[in-house]
This record gives sequence, C-alpha cells and structure tokens, in this order.
Amino acid sequence: MTKSLLLLPGDGIGPEVIGEVKRLIGALALDIAVEEALFGGAAIDATGLPITDETVARACSSDAVLMGAVGGPKWAGQAYDRRPEAGLLRLRSEMGVYANLRPARCFAALADSSSLKREFVEGLDILFVRELVGGVYFGTPRGIEDIGGGERRGVNTQVYTSSEIRRVARTAFELARGRSNRVCSAEKSNVMESGLLWKEEVTALHKAEYADVELTHMLADNMAMQLVKNPKQFDVIVTDNLFGDLLSDEAAMLTGSLGMLPSAAIGEAGKPGLYEPIHGSAPDIAGQGLANPCAAILSFAMALRFSLGETAAADRVEAAVDKALTGGACTRDIGGTLSTEEMGTAIIAAL
Ligand code: NAD
Ligand code: IPM
Ligand code: MN
Repeated sequence: MTKSLLLLPGDGIGPEVIGEVKRLIGALALDIAVEEALFGGAAIDATGLPITDETVARACSSDAVLMGAVGGPKWAGQAYDRRPEAGLLRLRSEMGVYANLRPARCFAALADSSSLKREFVEGLDILFVRELVGGVYFGTPRGIEDIGGGERRGVNTQVYTSSEIRRVARTAFELARGRSNRVCSAEKSNVMESGLLWKEEVTALHKAEYADVELTHMLADNMAMQLVKNPKQFDVIVTDNLFGDLLSDEAAMLTGSLGMLPSAAIGEAGKPGLYEPIHGSAPDIAGQGLANPCAAILSFAMALRFSLGETAAADRVEAAVDKALTGGACTRDIGGTLSTEEMGTAIIAAL
C-alpha cells in the first residue's frame, strides 16, 4: 500500500531545507503520497494556533511526518502556549514519540570542518537517544506568577516516572545491540531526584534484560566536557529531554555543523515517526539561500528507513550526501560556497 508522508516546512529556513527534500522526492520517483500543512509561526499567522487539531490528526494518521523548523523573532513575544515551539511540543506529545534518535556522524569529507582537530572527530559515530515527551519540557506546575513586592517567580518542573525512563532506555539498549553494544546514560543523580530515579531505572532494566550490553553512567556536566575532550569514547548515549537537547547541539559541531544533524522521533511500534533536523529556523540566515539542507535530507532518509519501508532508497540518499560532500559540495556553514539549492542539486546528482 502507498505510504504517506506529511511535510511540515514551518518557519525561517524550514521551508528552504524542506524544499530540497521535495526536489529529492521527485528525483527518487518513490511510491509515497506526500502532503503538506502549515506549522509553527506560519500556522499562527494563518489560524492563530501553532498547530491545528486537524494537522495533529493528519500527522497521527500518516506513516511519517517530516518537519523543517519552527520559531523566530516574529512570534517570540507570544504567551508560551501560543508560540511556534508549543506546536512542536504538542505534536511530539500527541504522536507519543518518546525516543528521539540523533545520530552524530562525521562524514569523511567533513573531518576538517569541525571546530575540533581532525583526529578527534574522524570516524565519529555517536547515537543520542533523547527522551522527548517528558521531563522539564512537560512537567507541571509551570508558569510565571507574581509573588508580591514586585517579585515574580518562574516555575518549571522536572519529572520522570519509571515507565517513561524504562521505555526510552529500552530503545537505547536495543539500538546498541545493532552497533558497538555500549550505552552511556547521562543524568545529574548527584543533585536531582529525577536523575537518581533515571540512573536506578536504567540500571535495573539493564540488569534484568540487557546485561549483554555494556552500560556506563556519567554526570551530564562531565559528559558535556568529555564530548569535546574525547568524543569517540561514546557509542549510544541515553539521556533526558533537556540534557539531550543541549548535548546533541554540542555534538553537532563535532560533525561540522548544526546543519548536518538529522533526527528521528519514534514511539510504539507501528505508530508514525516524526523526523526533524535538530537545528532551528536560523533567523540569522533565513531567506538568503544559505541554509545547509543536509540535516533535513538525512532526516528524510531516516523516515524512509524507519517509517516508509524504503530501506534501499534510504541507503541511496545517505550515500548521495556522502558522495556530494566527498566531491566537494559544501554550503557556507561547512566551509563551502554553495547555496541551499545548489547543495540539493549536488545531492540529487549524486543519487
Ligand atoms: P538555530 O538552530 O535556528 O540556529 C543556531 C545557529 O546555527 C545559527 O547561527 C544558524 O544560522 C545556524 N544554523 C542552524 N541551522 C543551520 C543550517 N541548516 N545551515 C546552516 N546554519 C544553520 O537556533 P536559534 O537561533 O537558537 O533558534 C532560532 C529559532 O529556532 C528559535 O525560535 C528556536 O526556538 C527555534 N528552534 C526550532 C527548532 C525546531 O523547530 N526543531 C530547533 C531549534 C530551535
Ligand atoms: C530541538 C529544539 C526544540 C527542543 C524546541 C524548538 C522546542 O531545540 O528540537 O532541539 O528544545 O526540543
Ligand atoms: Mn534543540
């Protein structure tokens, strides 16, 4: 049966990078039904909401959803629940995509594009498994309140339950078995109860079901340092929503640019996946044709692999990105001069 893909281009460079994915889809001539909907600031402008109920329903009934990016200065003054970013959090939550896979791979041609020396990043292949629908992003109470005397209080709550920790840890252990069989779990169990629970639950699941996988634990601040000291020590990293957000942006620079890192958010088997480059709407370069489309294109490849049953096409797309980079095709962020569209053209030519 024909699989369906919902594109959510969003804001800023989102439509620019998704535009290159659309051209790639045309070149691949796949049997996929592609639809599109407004998301983020673009949806706020049209409907007053960052995502409508109808778009959420369409996303949940598609086989895969691929987004560009949301947000920007135009909508930054809105109340939190009316911001573009709130639409993304709602979508992740309603799709139930609790495990966000963020592979930080350094393509051979980009070993000199990182801000670290070549020897530290050459051959780098880390897989972040970031918890995506819990933690401080969703915990209650939250808000800003007046507490008198001209003082206000901003509140967010970090909260995790055992089952939320175990299901994402399970994903990490399962994926590790297909790689170098090593998982490092990051938390701050030294200062946070939610971190202590995280460590205990990961340890218990490991002991009960995944003793064949090597498990280590690291405090998240130390991991931030170790990632730039000796990043190749890591294979699979499992961590919470906020630490996973920060550490994966840090790791993106090991691969050359934030514009290189794709992601796949998955939940229960059989449910649609949500695919997103990890970068944002990049207001500083939006509208100038400067964005690197690789993260979006590689996210599309992950959608082909995990949700659309097109493994061969996924291999082709990933190989084409590698080949284009090896042939010297580069946008500005990775040391070249190509525009977004020229980079897309180079990847299509390398298919
Ligand atoms: P950002 O990721 O948009 O940009 C950070 C820096 O990286 C900028 O200098 C930008 O030019 C550069 N960059 C990002 N993607 C690039 C690409 N593909 N090619 C070349 N350079 C790239 O982060 P920010 O500036 O902190 O946030 C801007 C907006 O994006 C905010 O509203 C934020 O909430 C939102 N955001 C959205 C997502 C998402 O939709 N998934 C992710 C992160 C940030
Ligand atoms: C990301 C982004 C999002 C996050 C924002 C835009 C909600 O930074 O996808 O990494 O913090 O998860
Ligand atoms: Mn982020």
